[in-house]
Amino acid sequence: MNTTRFVFCLLITLTTSAQQTLDQKVEALLSKMTLQEKIGQMNQYNGFWNFTGPSPDGGDQKIKYDHLANGLVGSMLNVRGVKEVRAVQKIAVEKSRLGIPLIFGFDLIHGYQSVFPIPLAEAASWDLEAIQRSASLSAKEAAVAGINWTFAPMVDVTRDARWGRVMEGAGEDPYLGSLIAAARVDGFQGDDLASPFTIAASAKHFAAYGFAEAGRDYNTVDIGLNTLHNIVLPPFKAAVDAGIKTFMNSFNDLNGIPATADAYLQRDLLKGEWGFDGFVVSDWGSIREMVDHGYAKDRKQAGEMSVLGGSDMDMESSIYVNELEALLEEKKINIAHIDDAVKRILKVKFELGLFDDPYLYCNEELEKQITGSQELVQANLDVAKKSIVLLKNENTILPLKKEGQKIGLIGPLAADKNSPLGNWRIAAVNNSAVSVLEGFQSYKGNKISHAQGVKLVNKVPDGFHEEVQINTTDKTGIEEAIALAKEVDVVVMVLGEYGFQSGEGRSRAFLNLPGFQQELLEKVAEVNPNIVLVVMNGRPLILNWASENIPAIVEAWHLGSQSGHAIAQVLYGDYNPSGKLPMSFPRSVGQLPIYYNHKSTGRPGADGEDMGSVFWSHYGDEKNSPLYPFGYGLSYTQFEYSPLQLSDDIMDKGGSLKASIKLKNTGKFKGKEVVQFYIQDPYASATRPVKELKGFQMVELNPGETKEVSFRITEEQLKFYNARQKWEAESGTFYVFIGSNSAVKEKKAFELR
Ligand code: BGC
Repeated sequence: MNTTRFVFCLLITLTTSAQQTLDQKVEALLSKMTLQEKIGQMNQYNGFWNFTGPSPDGGDQKIKYDHLANGLVGSMLNVRGVKEVRAVQKIAVEKSRLGIPLIFGFDLIHGYQSVFPIPLAEAASWDLEAIQRSASLSAKEAAVAGINWTFAPMVDVTRDARWGRVMEGAGEDPYLGSLIAAARVDGFQGDDLASPFTIAASAKHFAAYGFAEAGRDYNTVDIGLNTLHNIVLPPFKAAVDAGIKTFMNSFNDLNGIPATADAYLQRDLLKGEWGFDGFVVSDWGSIREMVDHGYAKDRKQAGEMSVLGGSDMDMESSIYVNELEALLEEKKINIAHIDDAVKRILKVKFELGLFDDPYLYCNEELEKQITGSQELVQANLDVAKKSIVLLKNENTILPLKKEGQKIGLIGPLAADKNSPLGNWRIAAVNNSAVSVLEGFQSYKGNKISHAQGVKLVNKVPDGFHEEVQINTTDKTGIEEAIALAKEVDVVVMVLGEYGFQSGEGRSRAFLNLPGFQQELLEKVAEVNPNIVLVVMNGRPLILNWASENIPAIVEAWHLGSQSGHAIAQVLYGDYNPSGKLPMSFPRSVGQLPIYYNHKSTGRPGADGEDMGSVFWSHYGDEKNSPLYPFGYGLSYTQFEYSPLQLSDDIMDKGGSLKASIKLKNTGKFKGKEVVQFYIQDPYASATRPVKELKGFQMVELNPGETKEVSFRITEEQLKFYNARQKWEAESGTFYVFIGSNSAVKEKKAFELR
């Protein structure tokens, strides 16, 4: 046997025996467990009292404490910080009969205490390395605070900006979304799950939660197999291929079946066809919500349906722990269902190293060293700058001059240190973001003044949790803002959504600038036209008036802890913006859902033009196209695309073609461009989108420099879930496009045969 072969065989043997040992360990433990203990592993509770204080003595909390001590809890969520995690783990490990360690889950949506840009913003960077690093450093910061499992990445494809949760995902494109899903999984889980710096990830929300009707959270989803397989599922599949350890299902029903009980999705597809060997956790209370859905007649039946549907762990419904024993006795479910779920859960705990050391993730020293470290600050600033999208820059008002200018910072969000943190930042310190004002103050050459214009107000919308909102009743600050605008050379207006205005349960029916901000903008523009509008938001907003009347618009999302520095550095030209929109920005709410990869329809037409008839697919009072399309974003420099070249106009199945352009930097600044490659399959067994992203490259060019940028076209890219319910590339014509955003028109054809 030659050496290579020997090493290969050795590797296979080692892998198999390591695998066997893991499976054997799981089996050995399972064989010692009582039925109750098994069910306990399937039960997850929320953190509910101060574990480092006195033990709870009343009601629900007492029950939960007893369950912990008796091995009836497999996981906790929202317990964080070494002190707390250690205290809870101690109960499970020292008091319960088998001492099985708990797994601690937490929503690391965009960072732990150091808050990274919201995921939608990071998606705008199109920088997979930066996104991977953001996840990996967030995992590290959370892991040293006791967390070993995150409910992220959220990989729901989203087409409707009314839905507040678009902020948590990667936007409207399944290809970009798949790459980002894999990058985040890699970032969270790393190469070694048993390292104290990596944690298990969870792809959510399985599935189709992003298609909630009318963008209203938790609403019904009704989509066909074509959309499900071609659009919704690819990022989930990418997460499985990247080795993700867990999945979370979703609140919605999908075509009449609540996702929590959907055996097709969870058993046939995920655990069957895709070979996923991790476990599935329900969403918060989603098992009991099946009663409200009108799908289960009572809690017990909801438990039965969830087990049969493939949900392995019950988050906060307390149904598994209370009902599964009886369901088993009644033979509604069988022991194989329970054993399978428990094995999946135990396996992940073994892989995390928790059986070797239940306190692996509890190290006070590391917690002190790593929380908020410089490494986190730098990575945060880096990805924040990359996430900014320049939407408009007329008369090169940007970048701003660094000296001798009077600059007025106006708007409720200009000095706000809370909103840039966005939603889903449970472990963040309130008011800890660098504000735009602070970012500007760190440059010394200009005179900076500030006026709020529209005030902020503290509210407690859910009865216990305070947040800063933009007031909708008080206009008294507008006069002061106008007076300031009159005196300065340039106005930087910082407007948009307050941090909690997007996120879970934050659907909006209007997508304009909230409150009196539009009025403020128009009044300021009357007295000073030199305005740079910086928009902070968790979702696409409608910016029609600004796009017509304001010379520069910068999309700055909710950029996290380093927000103000990132924005100031971009506005002053120390960083040349390169972000591209991951979601279309609509012209009006009536266009929603709006997305670039739509179908042609039987009556397509030229956008906004008079077709000489009304009988084509359009609005009588609005264009079909978005204000800013998917993939759109400017730079301080300009790029010129040469005509597209194709290496051949025929491609045999199994073969490949090369598509290329030459990209020239014709402007004055060094800059980066995300060159995008799209394909259209204009005629197929099931209708196909008018364009689909199939590749992109980030190219950096000096002024005057030209580079060839090429993409390989393969059969794999042409496959889709077709009318025969198979992933196939169908012979015939295809069009290829290469351009700077999804509205690119120039195309070349080839035949697949
Ligand atoms: C959300 C999930 C989240 C869970 C735990 C639910 O309300 O839908 O995305 O992971 O809460 O916080």
